[in-house]
Amino acid sequence: MSPAMVMAAERKQADNLQSQYQKGVKHLCENGINKVPKKYILPVSDRPNMKDRELINVNKQNFKLPIIDFAELQGSNRPQVLKSLANACEQYGFFQLVNHGIPSDVISSMIDVSTRFFELPFEERAKYMSSDMQSPIRYGTSFNQNKDDVFCWRDFLKLICNPISDVVPHWPSSPVDLRRLVAAYAKETKYLFLMIMVSILESLGLVGTTENKTEEDDILKDFEDGSQLMVVNCYPPCPEPNLTLGMPPHSDYGFLTLLLQDEVEGLQIQHQDKWVTVEPIANAFVVNVGDHLEIFSNGKYKSVLHRVSVNSVKSRISVASLHSLPFNYMVRPSPKLINEENPRGYKDTDFSSFLEYISSCEPKKKNFLESRKLC
Ligand code: OGA
Ligand code: NI
Repeated sequence: MSPAMVMAAERKQADNLQSQYQKGVKHLCENGINKVPKKYILPVSDRPNMKDRELINVNKQNFKLPIIDFAELQGSNRPQVLKSLANACEQYGFFQLVNHGIPSDVISSMIDVSTRFFELPFEERAKYMSSDMQSPIRYGTSFNQNKDDVFCWRDFLKLICNPISDVVPHWPSSPVDLRRLVAAYAKETKYLFLMIMVSILESLGLVGTTENKTEEDDILKDFEDGSQLMVVNCYPPCPEPNLTLGMPPHSDYGFLTLLLQDEVEGLQIQHQDKWVTVEPIANAFVVNVGDHLEIFSNGKYKSVLHRVSVNSVKSRISVASLHSLPFNYMVRPSPKLINEENPRGYKDTDFSSFLEYISSCEPKKKNFLESRKLC
């Protein structure tokens, strides 16, 4: 073979490998592997290394996210619970929400149908594959599969959930009960999000008094018409979990994310300069502050970096429900939270600038929020 032919053959082989990775981690694992391919191996400094692991384990006994009891929040203890809520959003950017009132069968069905979706034959899942970041329904892999140099150990199904009656017919038609179960789950989480937002606004001192009732109604109306994006994540068992991550460090874009994780741990958050593991609590939601809420609260509430580690034994499913204002709205610091002591800290931000950012961002620069800060 001439050198040119050798090069062409090599390129073809490399292209084949590339397109192989575009088919996702589930597909890769189904073909049988006992080593992590190079494409998924992180530079040493980005790995969930031993040092981190030790820190996490040391911390594990002590580290617990604040727990907010939703039922208690609705009762006579509300002022106290609002203080805990504010503290959680300021100090951790995360809390576990228990007693939220969503029926446990809605939750278990959501995990169950997600598991069954990822168990479908590759050809069935592949119908929903699209590399278009703006597609309303998308089966994808890694973080940004068009740009990531190193891929992460994750497949996902992204579903836009608003307006619900318009979007459901575009969702996958198999498993046959997916549309019904996911729609029920989406409605419940949307309602819960609205209820949590009422408390968040009150905890920021923005509503709850009679004088500004109209303003309160206005913003809640905006959230009612707001955007909801559901991301169903699947992290297959990984033969060498220390070399890769299920999701790289990132923050979430919206106001709040309601995360449902199954019983397998993997989510880690950055807390006091360490990575700490969030323990799964059955039937609880892990709720976190997103970039838009940090901006809206003018920096009072923190959108915290988090990542996902994988393990060699168990497949893990999580469902993230991301909520914000309607897609075409501007998010800006609430004027009531800007004063001499706390000058405006962020630029106006809309959803399209976020989409532009994530579609173009280079690996390792995944913090959208940083680009919105004024200083
Ligand atoms: C996300 C996310 C965490 C997890 O989807 O944004 O952070 O545990 N998921 O899957
Ligand atoms: Ni996230």
